[in-house]
Amino acid sequence: MGSTYEPALHPVKNHQVELSKAEAGVHALAATRNDRWYPKYHIASDGGWINDPNGLCYYRGRWHVFYQLHPYGTQWGPMHWGHVSSADMVTWRREPIAMAPSLEEERNGVYSGSAVVGDDGKLRFYYTANRWVNGKDRSGGQWQVQMLAEAVDDDARELLKRGMIIDCPREKVDSHFRDPKVWKQDGVWYLVHGVSSADKRGQLWLYHSQDMEEWTFDQVLFECPDEDVFMLECPDFFPLKTPGDQEKWIMVCSAMGAQPKGYMNRNTSNACYMIGSWKPGERFQPETELKPLDWGQNYYAPQSFLAPDGRRIMYGWMRPFTPPIPMERDGWCGQLTLPREVFLGDDGDLHTVPVEEIDHLRINDNDLGGSTLATNEERILLDDAEAEEVELTIDLKRSTAERCGLKVHATEDGSFVFVGYDDQSRRVVVDRMAVSRGDRGYRSAPLTSEELASGKLDLHVYIDRGSIEVFINNGRQAISVYNYPSAGLRSLKLVSESGDMQLERLQMHQIRGIGLE
Ligand code: FRU
Repeated sequence: MGSTYEPALHPVKNHQVELSKAEAGVHALAATRNDRWYPKYHIASDGGWINDPNGLCYYRGRWHVFYQLHPYGTQWGPMHWGHVSSADMVTWRREPIAMAPSLEEERNGVYSGSAVVGDDGKLRFYYTANRWVNGKDRSGGQWQVQMLAEAVDDDARELLKRGMIIDCPREKVDSHFRDPKVWKQDGVWYLVHGVSSADKRGQLWLYHSQDMEEWTFDQVLFECPDEDVFMLECPDFFPLKTPGDQEKWIMVCSAMGAQPKGYMNRNTSNACYMIGSWKPGERFQPETELKPLDWGQNYYAPQSFLAPDGRRIMYGWMRPFTPPIPMERDGWCGQLTLPREVFLGDDGDLHTVPVEEIDHLRINDNDLGGSTLATNEERILLDDAEAEEVELTIDLKRSTAERCGLKVHATEDGSFVFVGYDDQSRRVVVDRMAVSRGDRGYRSAPLTSEELASGKLDLHVYIDRGSIEVFINNGRQAISVYNYPSAGLRSLKLVSESGDMQLERLQMHQIRGIGLE
């Protein structure tokens, strides 16, 4: 039954005019761009700052990626929605900026949100409108509400704003109230978004709707057990089947406030997941701890969507958490991760691997087979690896090295990033200690006892001009980082420290651009 509820529009600016100004802003920054670290095969804006992936969807024959965009600078600022699209998830096309703040509720930004196709075939966008309470800045708190927009054309190049659909009960909320994600279950539409409760706990609130416009509060779907966590940004909630065909629900969120503990929570805020069960009318029942989705210094705000063939695909934002951020002087700042397929493995845990479409970016294949690296040997694989994919299998049982793997972005001045295995911690490490600019430090991901017992370690490494993404044992873990190599050739080397490395397999593929440079 259709409802009579109608969202209302309260324009304070002309949207078309704001969009044109924003295009000019991006254009002006793009004209100054330095491409030394600008991605060849990751999504970034032509110019300006980007953060979270938004509105991910497949619609009428094209894949769409929207993202948070500040068109007038290379730091976070008044948020817009940028847009790119693709027919094949291989080559991408820039689309007009999709949304600029133009309504009363959005005075200070159109924030993150998701997209979903209704039963009527209409593509709808659910997003957050942000207003500073004091009218100036965030120091006086924020007033955030959920909004609706619709695609006007088949290519979603023009969006029609419809207005507010969920107001904020401000007495129950400590000002954070954002990032709606919508899906359909058993004939009912559900919407979940992140909240900081009045007592500063990170919560997810669930709503339901019959008509996608009138939403009724359902319940608090989840409260983060970590009392330090005061807000869960960019929640995602979706079912996946185990290899044994059992349904599990995956809760993904970007938690603010968690304190570092050992290897965990090393970033200012941390994107994580839990596996559990859920039925409409119930709270989410977690069956695991909160775990990181990616162990790198630069991973945040992931969002997933369902592809027509049933794959669950996820993009994250490579967030430059810690200054200095050298790319912000280059006319642009920020890129998304590769699209990753998310699935439950035989071990019952979540895996993320780049979607198979990425293989179509390979320009050539170089199979170097197996080899041995002698104790303390360093061997050049490529003189200049600017955009390269490397697959290697290390035979851990036969290797004696304390650390072994790759030196990536190795330049003449001696800077590089180490990507490899550390036999003392028995973890995979990405170490930026030897870089000449940007944030230093290392991150590492664990290997389970089963992985170690197998005696083999598979590393799949994607090198772009300014980033490195590492996938371990078919996406069992991932580590994503930025790096800002020095001028000159960026060589790729094998390295083995204090012992030898037995490589069972080594394959390399040069990667071509995705059409956004
Ligand atoms: C996450 C986030 C979201 C918000 C958006 C604003 O990075 O803070 O919670 O909607 O970015 O740009």
